[in-house]
Amino acid sequence: MKSTIFTVLLFCFSSSVLGQYENTIVGPNKAVNPYQYSVVKSGTFNRASVSSAHPLASMVGAEIMKQGGNAFDATIATQFALAVVYPGAGNIGGGGFTLARKKDGTLIGIDYREAAPAKANRDMYLDAAGNAQDALSQNGHLASGVPGTVAGIFDTYAHAKLPFAMLIQPAIDLARFGFVITEKEASSLNGTKKDFIQYSTKPSAFVKETKWKVGDTLIQVALANTLARIQKEGAKGFYEGETAALIVEEMKRGGGIISLEDLKQYKAKSRTPIVFNYRGYDVISFAPPSSGGILIGQMLKMIEPFNVQKMGFQTPASVQLMIEAERRAYADRAAHIGDPDFYKVPQKTLLSSTYIKNRMLDYKPGVAGSSEQIGAGVAPTSEETTHFSVVDPEGNMVAVTTTLNGGYGNRTVVGDAGFILNNEMDDFSAKPGSPNMYGAIGGEANSIAPYKRMLSSMTPTLLTKNKKPFLTIGTPGGTTIPTSVFQAIVNLVDFNMSLEDAINSPKFHHQWLPDEVSIEKTFNQNTKTELEKMGYRIKSRGSIGRTEGILIGPTGKRITVADNRGDDAVAGF
Ligand code: DON
Repeated sequence: MKSTIFTVLLFCFSSSVLGQYENTIVGPNKAVNPYQYSVVKSGTFNRASVSSAHPLASMVGAEIMKQGGNAFDATIATQFALAVVYPGAGNIGGGGFTLARKKDGTLIGIDYREAAPAKANRDMYLDAAGNAQDALSQNGHLASGVPGTVAGIFDTYAHAKLPFAMLIQPAIDLARFGFVITEKEASSLNGTKKDFIQYSTKPSAFVKETKWKVGDTLIQVALANTLARIQKEGAKGFYEGETAALIVEEMKRGGGIISLEDLKQYKAKSRTPIVFNYRGYDVISFAPPSSGGILIGQMLKMIEPFNVQKMGFQTPASVQLMIEAERRAYADRAAHIGDPDFYKVPQKTLLSSTYIKNRMLDYKPGVAGSSEQIGAGVAPTSEETTHFSVVDPEGNMVAVTTTLNGGYGNRTVVGDAGFILNNEMDDFSAKPGSPNMYGAIGGEANSIAPYKRMLSSMTPTLLTKNKKPFLTIGTPGGTTIPTSVFQAIVNLVDFNMSLEDAINSPKFHHQWLPDEVSIEKTFNQNTKTELEKMGYRIKSRGSIGRTEGILIGPTGKRITVADNRGDDAVAGF
């Protein structure tokens, strides 16, 4: 196991104020010590494991399985814990997708993507001259869609075993009694202070006079109270009653449009996962309103006819092939994918072998393609995010990607309720051809309409081989998500890498428009030069994604890896 202990600060955990559930697992002398913990980057476990963006959240999930819970129990406990210890992306004010394969092979897709409020309309972010106003879709009250996470968690609970009160209790404890923050968390809270003040109408736990520093304890009493209402009242503890009233009061103070009715009618939806075969592995991924499953389906199938292994890892030849697959898939994303309940997504065509073969006919090895010439295919119309992975002792696998969209969402903390709202409305296409915060463009398929869910790139993904669990994987990263998952799978399957190398190797990304390739700083410099000679425009950028994966080895061991790009950590037994 690789680990680093980054902070030690012991506070008194008063037993007189322990939460409602008696057998709490969080405390100084408990399994999950919020005042002293380490970042464990990888581990091989015999029975069960979790890989998530925060050590405390992974530990909570693993401990729940130790106490008899299955992967769904662990998912719920981890997800609530992330909402407390990883406020930049873990959430109850956002949404996401949960993909699971039960031990009997049943596939589950839970869509709890945020929805546009009833008062939303197609042109709501356009100014008088018809220009998209990013500031409104990206920050503050109008940027938030109706949150879906709590509804999604209750749909997940249908597959769990333990009492719900027990699964949410660790999060309540972490919020009420606090946890020591990492250096990265301290610095991102400091960096967001100004925005929290500007976009919130009441003081919140995230803002204090002096600077946050590593080892400080973050206590979130208002959030603990909100979680306790959910513990007591179920989904109604969020979508109705006091929490809903607090959200609507926040909207009124800040000029937002989410209403009590919007909250009351919100439901998670069940989506049939996308399944296709890649070199002998069954790949299972998420369907629209995520574009992720279609994108990785297209990209993997576009490169499958080529001997990628022979081309070699991140050689000019293999990278060029993968870039051209990315270009074509992302062009289709912009034109053809949106919420399937509002727009007829030609999913079957986009994933058909004839269509995919035709899309690559104009691929020329050694010569850069052009996004001006290569648009979306003609598909007949007839017909700061976070990911975590869980595998339990029984062989149930879960992949969850959930988000507020940008780091700390719209930076509005719901007054007296303690949680941050999403800025997911920016994932809609505010105006045809006008890029969102990830540079993604779109049109009719992803236009704004009341109750519609905005198009996502989140790609929780599972792989099986010979009908047996093999991998659970996913990552944050906006539009780079499908390319990160695509590349991790190619690294594993084509280049026979270990999971650790598959995840931590440098990534590259092309999304059709802008017509450029972004690369991580550690990307192979010779390949970069060769690609430039072929005519590619290359741009170096910060890290791409934070991938969390669990690979089930031939003897059943859970090989568990957390991306080395953040505080991400694994736990298991
Ligand atoms: O759903 C989407 O595609 C985006 N809202 C995801 C945002 C994201 O991954 C941010 N994290 N880096």
